[in-house]
Amino acid sequence: MTQRKILITSALPYANGPIHLGHMLEYIQTDIWSRFQKARGHQCYYVCADDAHGTPIMLKAQQLGMSPEQMIAQTSQEHQADFAEFLIGFDNYHSTHSEENRQFASDIYTKLDQGGYIKRKTISQLFDPEKQMFLPDRFVKGDCPKCGALDQNGDSCDSCGATYSPTELKNPRSVVSGATPVLKDSEHYFFDLPAFEQMLKDWTRSGSLQDEMANKLQEWFTEGLQQWDISRDAPYFGFEIPGAPGKFFYVWLDAPIGYLASFKNYCDKTGVNFDQFWQKDSDAEIYHFIGKDIIYFHSLFWPAMLDGAGYRKPTSVYAHGFVTVNGAKMSKSRGTFIKARTYLEHLNPEYLRYYFASKLTSNITDLDLNLEDFAQKVNADLVGKVVNIASRCASFISKKFDGTLTADIAEPALLAEFTAAGETIAESFEKREFARAIREIMALADKANQYIDAKAPWVLAKNEATLTEAHLVCSMGINLFRVLMHYLKPVLPAMAKEVELFLNDELSWSTYQTALTNHSINVFKPLMQRVEMTKVEAMVEGSKDNLQPTAAVAPKAAETKAAPAAIVAADGAIEPIGETITIDDFAKLDLRVARIINAEHVEGADKLVKLQLDLGNEQRQVFAGIKSAYQPEQLIGRLTVMVANLAPRKMRFGMSEGMVMAAGPGGSDIFLLTPDDGSTPGMRVK
Ligand code: 2FM
Ligand code: ZN
Repeated sequence: MTQRKILITSALPYANGPIHLGHMLEYIQTDIWSRFQKARGHQCYYVCADDAHGTPIMLKAQQLGMSPEQMIAQTSQEHQADFAEFLIGFDNYHSTHSEENRQFASDIYTKLDQGGYIKRKTISQLFDPEKQMFLPDRFVKGDCPKCGALDQNGDSCDSCGATYSPTELKNPRSVVSGATPVLKDSEHYFFDLPAFEQMLKDWTRSGSLQDEMANKLQEWFTEGLQQWDISRDAPYFGFEIPGAPGKFFYVWLDAPIGYLASFKNYCDKTGVNFDQFWQKDSDAEIYHFIGKDIIYFHSLFWPAMLDGAGYRKPTSVYAHGFVTVNGAKMSKSRGTFIKARTYLEHLNPEYLRYYFASKLTSNITDLDLNLEDFAQKVNADLVGKVVNIASRCASFISKKFDGTLTADIAEPALLAEFTAAGETIAESFEKREFARAIREIMALADKANQYIDAKAPWVLAKNEATLTEAHLVCSMGINLFRVLMHYLKPVLPAMAKEVELFLNDELSWSTYQTALTNHSINVFKPLMQRVEMTKVEAMVEGSKDNLQPTAAVAPKAAETKAAPAAIVAADGAIEPIGETITIDDFAKLDLRVARIINAEHVEGADKLVKLQLDLGNEQRQVFAGIKSAYQPEQLIGRLTVMVANLAPRKMRFGMSEGMVMAAGPGGSDIFLLTPDDGSTPGMRVK
């Protein structure tokens, strides 16, 4: 087999949030593929980085009171710790906020500009006069221009589904400061994507794209390619455009360039030849694994940028679907929005690697992590089938045969069947049909167990006359197990390492065809524990803890056990109504309209905002746990609803004299109840 040169990447995670199981699907898929290619003896590198630029990252750092550099350094550490524990074997992990990336971004831009592919055009955009910044679509809210629904996003309406430009919103407001945005002109730089249409069509037809991807591209060609706005005005966290003071590269320009930067950083450390991979006539293969939501960037802009700047294009871009949990979109209120860290606190990472592998195909359909099925499948396949083969054979070999395998193979034909499957299993891995590979491996595991069941070595071992046969059967079982573990090694690298210690042998794709005979093995130790549903449940509970459902939002709202009418989950699902109360209980609540006349951060509190509320004839101070969703400045001037007769509570930060009302699962999805402007402070809410 000729040795291939392969560079593999996964999409770069944003440096402003934690890794969750939705992300992990991609890293696990890519890692299995990369480990497989390496095991086959190819020269293969797998690189990644944090995606560190852009407005959301700049604003989040401001919110946390740190510099973006500090924040991205901290996030990078957290991401890398999560990846390492999930056994993601990157050869290099870098950042888009790196010197290499600055150089590549500047160089690619300069080449595109020299090639005539950068156009300049003045456009008018919404600008926050208080924050003195242009507002990306998602940082403008207002009323839908079509149906009038209140508080809609800058690009589309959740209520009627209309899409529009943020300048069309009625009553627009800046999500950053609450100010009314104004229109302001600015010169922007555009990448001339339409100039690459023919090249992109040829690339699409080159045959290595998934059908779904090629179809999507075809749709975009039919709609007509557009100029792509690649500049953003200061303030922006990113790289300044050469020769354009105050203008920065849009985050999506330098994000994929981060693939080059991370690989260059690796090459500089190790002496690998960068140009051999990226120069125009390179014979190396380059693959980008991505989610289906970012196909546009990777299959249009990225190959066009590379082409325009004199680089080769990726061999292929492999998209996958999204993760659902228990058949629904991951939900914070249901505890199924599971962070990588939370998973790791409760469960073995190889369970998830195996489960995802057992369901992954080469297409972009979504993958459901059904938690019961997850436990059942891992227990049945890994513990019940694979590990069971070894555990049933190993102890006899240690106890009765001095830990040595027989010189002969009892059933050469059966062993040959196991090794012969190697090529079709390899083909399935190569084509990213992991589910098919796993099915074939498990069918073999069933055969190995049937063989052991039929021979019953535990019976043979009791009788002196059949002791030799017991030895042969157990040695055969260990050899069958060994072949299977070769195949599973890309999926289960940690368990494979344990097996290597147990077998005194290195598992590599080039050795599985030679059996272990006359070979001494070590004492068998349990290789994998069963998945316990209690731990799965604890993980789900732990995920709910991250973000408490919020009814009346006050400090520790969950502890107040206020009965919510209904909680709208992040994905729009409505939670069931809680326990009932009598009309008399309800009558006890004195709900009032209040105006927020001041709002401030609370020194030393993660979740709290200190509110000064005007009730018409009096003022109240209330601490509300809504910091994850609102900047204090946004709140000032707004009307809300408060529980006015809640007994005052003394808190570490001062007295809290009531509670404000909000809905939502928590995190950035907390929505302060906002009565219409016709109501005035002090009015009773009925
Ligand atoms: O969608 C995302 O999460 C982006 N941060 C992915 C970037 S991939 C590449 F282009 F850098
Ligand atoms: Zn609407």
